[in-house]
Amino acid sequence: MATTPHSVLPNFSKAIGLNAIKNWKTKMKRKNLQDRISLLRMNIARLYWRIPKFFPGSETYWNQRYVDGGTSGKGSYDRFAVFKAEVVNGFVAIHDVKSVIEFGCGDGGQLMLANYPKYIGFDVSEAAIALCQEKFGSDITKSFHLRKEYRGATADLALSLDIIYHLVEDDVFENHMAILFSSADRYVIVYSSNMDKNPWFGSAHVKHRKFTDWVAEKRANWKLIEYCDGIPGFSANFYIYEKNS
Ligand SMILES: C[S@@+](CC[C@H](N)C(=O)[O-])C[C@H]1O[C@@H](n2cnc3c(N)ncnc32)[C@H](O)[C@@H]1O
Repeated sequence: MATTPHSVLPNFSKAIGLNAIKNWKTKMKRKNLQDRISLLRMNIARLYWRIPKFFPGSETYWNQRYVDGGTSGKGSYDRFAVFKAEVVNGFVAIHDVKSVIEFGCGDGGQLMLANYPKYIGFDVSEAAIALCQEKFGSDITKSFHLRKEYRGATADLALSLDIIYHLVEDDVFENHMAILFSSADRYVIVYSSNMDKNPWFGSAHVKHRKFTDWVAEKRANWKLIEYCDGIPGFSANFYIYEKNS
């Protein structure tokens, strides 16, 4: 029996349809497998880093994270960044803050929403500083430097946003706190968790600390003038200190 185009077409398109479904299924299987492999690699890395001798240290961790194309994290984008910017920008405007210094400026994601008259940002990661210089290169009110290049600059307000619970080494924490307070002429704003509880299964690059105890003990001339709850369900909140005159 002779085949007409009409009798061929349904089988042909059926075959094409089946092939497309088959290809799509293979693609999805491959993608699922790739997703599972990258999840597994991430979990292995986390477990590996839980063993103290394998965690590369906070500085190397952050630099590598940016070199690998990572960001400052979800706290520096979207609703978290908007919330943080509202609090800090509001404070800067109300208290007539003329200059801001920040330790741990990150990749500049958060800073895109900032409204400061003058700003100096420091970070331990060379890659983060390069990203900020690229983003804000034409903005003469801002400058960025490596943390190790800090030589005693001060500003009306010093910021530590989403940093303290990432300072896993005790000496690094001590150093950050000391420099944060000595670089501030009038105010310090900290956005962080403030507790000593650290679950054993937590991320290797996180260590919560009750930093308010450090301030009370070592910076008695600073007064907590404001506290502001963070985003519900997350452990970071705002703590604002003023220097006693
Ligand atoms: C979670 S990100 C927060 C970035 C920014 N402050 C924000 O709120 O979006 C933490 C940043 O702190 C930096 N960092 C880690 N240890 C630091 C230290 N000892 N001194 C300065 N920056 C540090 C990391 O490189 C990273 O860029």
